[in-house]
Amino acid sequence: MFVLHVALQGALRGRNVEYGVTADTGGHIRYLMGLVEASEKDVAVERIAIATRAFRSSLGDEYSQPREKVTRKIEIVRFATEQADYLAKEELWHEVPSFAEALIGWIEKQPTRPDMLHAHYADAGVVAAIVRERLGIPFVFTSHSLGRVKLEAFGGSADENLPDQADGLTHRLEAEERALADAALVIASSRDEAEVQYAGYAAYKPGKIRVVPPGSDLTMFTNAKSSIAVDRMINRFLVDPDKPPLIAIARPVAKKNLAGLVKAFGKSAELQAKANLVIIAGTRKNIADLEPELAGNLQKILNMIDRYDLYGKVAYPKEHRPEDVPALYAYARERRGIFVNPALNEPFGLTLLEAAAVGMPVIATDSGGPNDIVELCRNGELVDPHSATAIADAALRILESPKAWHAYASAGTAAVQAYEWQSHTARYHRLIQSLLAPPTEVTSKPAQLLICDIDNTLVGSKESVLEFCDWHRSQIELAFGVATGRSFHSAMAILEQEGAPLPEVMITSVGSEIYYRAPDSTTYEADRTWSEIIDVDWDRQAIAELLASEPSIHPQAALEQRRFKLSYLTDGDKGLVRRLRDRMDAAGLQCSIIHSHGRYLDILPIRASKGSAVTHVRNRYGMTESQVFVAGDSGNDIEMLRTIPQAIIVQNFSDDLASLPDLSHGYFASATYALGIIEGVDHFRKLAAATAAAK
Ligand code: GLC
Ligand code: MG
Repeated sequence: MFVLHVALQGALRGRNVEYGVTADTGGHIRYLMGLVEASEKDVAVERIAIATRAFRSSLGDEYSQPREKVTRKIEIVRFATEQADYLAKEELWHEVPSFAEALIGWIEKQPTRPDMLHAHYADAGVVAAIVRERLGIPFVFTSHSLGRVKLEAFGGSADENLPDQADGLTHRLEAEERALADAALVIASSRDEAEVQYAGYAAYKPGKIRVVPPGSDLTMFTNAKSSIAVDRMINRFLVDPDKPPLIAIARPVAKKNLAGLVKAFGKSAELQAKANLVIIAGTRKNIADLEPELAGNLQKILNMIDRYDLYGKVAYPKEHRPEDVPALYAYARERRGIFVNPALNEPFGLTLLEAAAVGMPVIATDSGGPNDIVELCRNGELVDPHSATAIADAALRILESPKAWHAYASAGTAAVQAYEWQSHTARYHRLIQSLLAPPTEVTSKPAQLLICDIDNTLVGSKESVLEFCDWHRSQIELAFGVATGRSFHSAMAILEQEGAPLPEVMITSVGSEIYYRAPDSTTYEADRTWSEIIDVDWDRQAIAELLASEPSIHPQAALEQRRFKLSYLTDGDKGLVRRLRDRMDAAGLQCSIIHSHGRYLDILPIRASKGSAVTHVRNRYGMTESQVFVAGDSGNDIEMLRTIPQAIIVQNFSDDLASLPDLSHGYFASATYALGIIEGVDHFRKLAAATAAAK
């Protein structure tokens, strides 16, 4: 495999990149270098070239050299464009045509052409699109950051709010649209990027995006030890400094919800008896001199310490140096503490990876990126950040069980590998190879369709998933799909992580979205007809407004809110669904209300459910009811299990499914998880054969 990266920005060189020499010599180069270094280790990769712009500059002569050999497999090739001098990224769009011409000339002279281009940042995306148009070579696109996000941060109007950058930004947005439209695959770093940031683009196709988090350098944290300075900094606050600390490290902005943690600690006498609290909230000389938001939140924390009389139990050091940070985590780990991230919303959650690398459990907000991290690493517990009791209970559970503490602590250290470049490239190469493989011939129409719920049905036991994969390979006439409460990217992440087979169809967000695997057998296409069908009578805004005044529910993370799905966390209140139903009816609002695991509440368009989605897919396949099997385990599967005759309920079900008269036709498997699915399919096939024989 020969991969040609295109990256036009900044001062790029093979060794000792001088990060920060120019405003654009930053993150995307670090990313690219980490990527190619890990990528070349794969024997399947024969050659890697990085195409960048040649420029004349006092920064050094190397930036005008046409070729720089970096390692045996990696080289940098530089192409002169119209302008000879260094240009900031806002100016680069002028150079795109001349750069593309030069690059095409070079590719044509190579003994073998690149199999794939990989464009980094908007302008490179246009270069790659031109190359694709002329030479037919497909490309992967990584945006690194998006023009739309910048535009929104400045209030949505570049002309008014960013007059000197308006022109560049307009070109950038156009370039991003073209890159998105023409790329074979888009790599995003987080679900937030894939599902929220890209969503505003006209060419947005979620099924073409895959989330592959970049490698994070955590070496500073892996063997960190506390220091005398840090011990002193914290211990002077505490009456009993040997108690395990709950530690939070975050700037005191409202979103980080440090006050929520102080409250959880302040309200629980039990927790105060067992642990100290350490709040590392930036550094300050004089609170009154800080920005108002920071000052206000610090004041709030200090007031709470006073109100709950937490003197001697909470440390809130005034200052620390950046180099103290690893030692601060280590201080907590050495005392069997827990790292807590109670943010109301956390886009990625690097601090959780740092805590994992140091080797201690985490308690993290169930809102945003931590969800992905904790799910993958299993290094702690997720909590509703609004609930003081939930935070305190999670802390007590971990503090009271040395076994749990150790399991989370060691899971963290092991899982940090998942965020190394090596793991990134393993997935990245698999995706490229799958795109490059010739399209599989469709030999026959599938004769049957199996749709499985994911969590606690298809996945939940690694060994069962492995057995399911073997079984699935033998089922050539059975189309396989999933139906889940997760979004498309969240579902894709868990399927890849658990090694489940790649589905033909994905019914996601509790039946409100449907995707089919594309002919390239790698990306997915959304079912637009389905969106039109369920959009009827859906007044999302009115429903959201009504629910905003409901006391016992809190919105789930921003990422869980979809065009056709509003999701909340509940405290298990049994009368909730009834009450909401009555309120909706009184307001004349149509919707389905789905409560599962005593904890999740989903509100969907009246026509959307896993069940109606399965029927829609069945019709698309032109199958009868007797050709379809569904499998599930919990509340959000009821609709699907109820309406589809061949319904399988795995042994480890919840939400009282066995007591529902509506499910009396279902097959309750004696095996758990994926093995229960296989057992159920066998059961219904035997039953059908017996019925046919009797006729
Ligand atoms: C998944 C979704 C969540 C939903 C739940 C139940 O966990 O991420 O939003 O509420 O399933 O359907
Ligand atoms: Mg489930």
